[in-house]
Amino acid sequence: MHSTHHHVVVSQYKRSASRLTIFAHVFGILAFALMLVWLLHYRGGIEYDSYNAVRVFNVHPFLMFCGFIFLSGEAMMVYKTVQATHMVQKVVHMILQLLAFVLAVVGLCAVFKYHDMTNIEDVYSLHSWIGIAAISLFVLQWLAGLITFMFTQPDVTRQSLLPWHICGGRTLLYMSIVAALTGLLEKATFIGLRSNREARLVNFLGLSILLFGIFVDLSVALARYV
Ligand code: HEM
Repeated sequence: MHSTHHHVVVSQYKRSASRLTIFAHVFGILAFALMLVWLLHYRGGIEYDSYNAVRVFNVHPFLMFCGFIFLSGEAMMVYKTVQATHMVQKVVHMILQLLAFVLAVVGLCAVFKYHDMTNIEDVYSLHSWIGIAAISLFVLQWLAGLITFMFTQPDVTRQSLLPWHICGGRTLLYMSIVAALTGLLEKATFIGLRSNREARLVNFLGLSILLFGIFVDLSVALARYV
């Protein structure tokens, strides 16, 4: 009797977690669209191999959100959004996280290239420190996840490391959100945005990124611990 009740509660929360992913998707897609409008309409476009340093820079915010944060968030929600066996979900989770990392590296290369082209020194800002920390820890988290959950390990090892993997992933998600928001704020300050249309667009972009992170995190939190 007790275990049936427990089962009902768990599945209710799993379903409410799936509904939360809908909100995550709404804000993720909204942020994706606002980022494109900002960079293409207001900021002169996105191009890695350009002589125009500004277009090279724009690859950075584009890939850091639309590549890294968005894909990584999707990877975290795979256990609610992909209806398949647990093994398939795990493999999709791993591959999406790997893809997120690859795009993050390209996005970082773009901003280093931009600094090179414009003779700006590297890694001086709080934004860049948080960003470097997030990406470095992301690599460790990915490798630890690979070893723990993809290779054969005793069940106790997996069970004791799973909460660490989940908390680590949620922390990293917030760290990358903080990096994105400080980056947006920095750029808005550099280009002197105040109270015009573009400034409001950037604010709504930042809010959408934040809400995406919050709803991804809630969907992970609610499904696991109740
Ligand atoms: C997870 C997301 C992000 C990470 C990990 C990240 C990481 C970094 C790093 C490591 C640098 C230093 C590059 C260098 O010194 O050559 C940098 C620079 C920069 N980023 Fe980001 N970034 C992220 C998102 C964004 C976003 C969304 C924007 C929005 C415009 C942005 C704007 C900037 C700007 C303006 C710089 C140049 C100034 C500086 O070095 O602080 N970043 N970023």
